Amino acid sequence: MITVRVPAKVNVQLGVGGLRADGFHDLANVFFAVALGDEVTASPGEGVTLSCTGPDAAVVPLDDSNLAARAARLLAAHHGLADPGVHLHIAKAIPVAGGMAGGSADGAAALVACDALWQLDTPLPVLLDLAAELGSDVPFALLGGVALGRGRGEILEPLPVEGTFHWIFAVADGGLSTPAVYRECDRLRDRAGTGSGETDVTTPDADPTLLAALAEGDAVALAAALTNDLQPAAVSLRPALAATLRAGTEAGALGALVSGSGPTCAFLAKDAESAAAVAEALLASGTCRAAHATYGPVPGASVVS
Ligand code: C5P
Repeated sequence: MITVRVPAKVNVQLGVGGLRADGFHDLANVFFAVALGDEVTASPGEGVTLSCTGPDAAVVPLDDSNLAARAARLLAAHHGLADPGVHLHIAKAIPVAGGMAGGSADGAAALVACDALWQLDTPLPVLLDLAAELGSDVPFALLGGVALGRGRGEILEPLPVEGTFHWIFAVADGGLSTPAVYRECDRLRDRAGTGSGETDVTTPDADPTLLAALAEGDAVALAAALTNDLQPAAVSLRPALAATLRAGTEAGALGALVSGSGPTCAFLAKDAESAAAVAEALLASGTCRAAHATYGPVPGASVVS
C-alpha cells in the first residue's frame, strides 16, 4: 500500500490573457502550495476503482471522470500495462470545485502512488508531461512550493520563496465550474468594451513586486500584491463572496482574494495565531461553511508511507 500526500493551491497572482483558439486562456499564474491537502492511498486491485472519505465525499465522482482514475489509466497506458490493477482511496480535505485544484491534486497524487505501487520509476519530466495531459493545474500539484505557470498554467518555473506564510481558506456552500468562471470573465470583458480575444487582452506577466515579496518572505508586501483576474467573474456568479472577503479583512487579515476560479476565499495573516483568530471570526460571521487556517509553501505530491 502506498500513501501520497498532496497539497491544495492558491494563486497569489492569476493574470488571465485573451481567449485562445483552443478554448484556453494564456496565464501568468503564480501557484502557491498549502498544507491543506488530500491523501491518496493506492493498493492492489482489479481494474481501477475509487473510494473517498471526507466532508465533501458525497459529491466526489467515483467513476472515470475522476482525475485520479484517469491518471492511473494514463500512467498504465504510457508504460504499456494492459491490465492495470489498483484501488485508490482518496482522503479528501480540499474543498470540491472550490478553486483550490483539489481534483488536480488527486490526479497528481494518483500518478505518484501508482508509479510507486507498480514500481515504474517514471522520471519526473515524464510525470509532468502526463500531468499536463490530465489538466492545466496537475503539473503544479506534482511540483509544489511556489511556481510561475505560463501557457495554460502547465509550463512551470519554480520561484524562490523565503519562510512560511499563514493562510486562511473560507469554504463556500457549493462549488463553481472553472469553465463557467472563465466564460464569465470573457463576458465581463466584452461588456466593458475591452474585448476578450487574444488580440484584445495584453499577455499577462508576473508582477515583480509580488515576486520580491515571496523571495523576501514579506507577508505584508505579498498581501498588498495579491491579484486574481478571475475574481470579478467569481463574485459576479456568486455575489455573496463579497461579504466573505470583507469579513476576513475586518477580522484582521492582511489581504484577501478569491482562490483561483473560486468560490473558496483565501486570506493572508501575519502569523499562525492571527490566522487562527481570522478563521474563527470568519466562521462566526456566517459568510462561509467552514474556515481552515493553514500555511505554506509545502512540497508537491510525495509518498508518506
Ligand atoms: O485544464 P483544465 O481541464 O483544468 O481546464 C478546465 C477548463 O478551464 C478549460 O476547459 C477551460 O474552459 C478553462 N481554462 C482556461 N484557461 C486556462 C485553464 C483552464 O480557459 N489556462
